[in-house]
Amino acid sequence: MSKVFELWNEVGGAFGPSGREEAVREAIAAIAGAYIDDITTDALGNLICRKKGSSKKVLFAAHMDSIGVVATYIDEKGFIRFSQVGGLFKGDLINITVRFANGTRGVISYEEKTPFKDLTLDNLFIDIGAKDRAQAETMVQVGDFAVFDAPRFEQNGVLCGPYLDNRIGCVTLLLAMEQLAEAQTDNDLYFVFTAQEEVGLRGAGAAAFAVEPDVAIAVDVTDTGDLPERKTPMAVDMGKGPAVKVMDRSVICTPAVCAALEQAAKDCGIAIQREILQFGGTDTSALQKTRTGVQAGAVSIPTRYIHSPSEMCAVGDVEDAAKLLAHFAAAYSA
Ligand code: CO
Ligand code: ZN
Repeated sequence: MSKVFELWNEVGGAFGPSGREEAVREAIAAIAGAYIDDITTDALGNLICRKKGSSKKVLFAAHMDSIGVVATYIDEKGFIRFSQVGGLFKGDLINITVRFANGTRGVISYEEKTPFKDLTLDNLFIDIGAKDRAQAETMVQVGDFAVFDAPRFEQNGVLCGPYLDNRIGCVTLLLAMEQLAEAQTDNDLYFVFTAQEEVGLRGAGAAAFAVEPDVAIAVDVTDTGDLPERKTPMAVDMGKGPAVKVMDRSVICTPAVCAALEQAAKDCGIAIQREILQFGGTDTSALQKTRTGVQAGAVSIPTRYIHSPSEMCAVGDVEDAAKLLAHFAAAYSA
C-alpha cells in the first residue's frame, strides 16, 4: 500500500461534509503539526498551517469539506427525506449507503412509481431500517448531515473510493509540507485547509483575506477526458501527471502563475497537463478575488467519477503534484 493511500484512508475516512469539518480538521492537524511552526483555526473553520519565513507569502489551499446530504423530514414510517449539501447527481445516489456523524447508516432509494428518467432528489429517501418515525428519530434528527459510506482501495497504482474530492488535495498538501519541513527557503508558507468549498467557495476567501498572500495556489481534483464515448473532449488523462489549471467556470488563472508552475514542473522533471475545466469551479476563484486581487493558480489531480462514492485517481499524479508544490513553494520569488 502506498503512503498516499495510507494518508488518504486516514484523512478521507474522517466525517466532514461542508460546515461540519471538525473531524477532518483534527485528522489533518494531527499529521501537519510535525512539519510547521503554527496552526490556527478561524471562525469559518478553515485550518491555517504556517511555516514561517520572511520573504514571499505563498498560500496553498485545499478544501477539506465533502459533499453530502442533510435530513429534512422524517415520515411516519421512518423514511428520511433529504436535501443536498453540494452538487449531487441522482445517478450516483440510487441504492448506495450513507453514514451520519453518529455512525447511523442508511440506504438511499427512490419512489418506484416515478419513471426513472424523471426522478429528482425529491423522489429519493433514506431508509435506516427503522420501524416508524419514533424509532428513526432516536437515531437521526432533522438537520443531521450524512456522507457516502463506501470502501477505499488501491489497485494498479490507482486509488478508488469516496471523497478523493478533495481529501486527496489535503493529502497532497501534507506530502508537500513534509518535503518542505527541512527545505532551505525564506518564503513564508501557508497551507490552508478550507471549509465549505462544495457549497460555494465559502471558506477560502476569508483565509486568504487574513493571510494577504503574494501568490495563491488551490489544489483540488479535476475531470478527465479519458473515458469511453465522452460527450466533451478534454485533454487531461488520469496518470499522465498533475494538471496546471488554465481556467474553469469560476476563474481564469493568472498567466504568470501558470507559467511559474510549468517552470517548476520542468525544473523538477515532472510531466504536467494543462487543464481547462468546462463545468465546475474551485477555490482558486475565491483566492483570486480576495482584497484587491491575488495572483492565483491551481494544481489539479485528474480524477474520474467525481462526486460519486467511487472516485478514482492515480497515486503517481498525487506524488508528482506534491513534488511540484514543494518545489514551487521554495523557489517562488516573482
Ligand atoms: Co467537489
Ligand atoms: Zn473539490
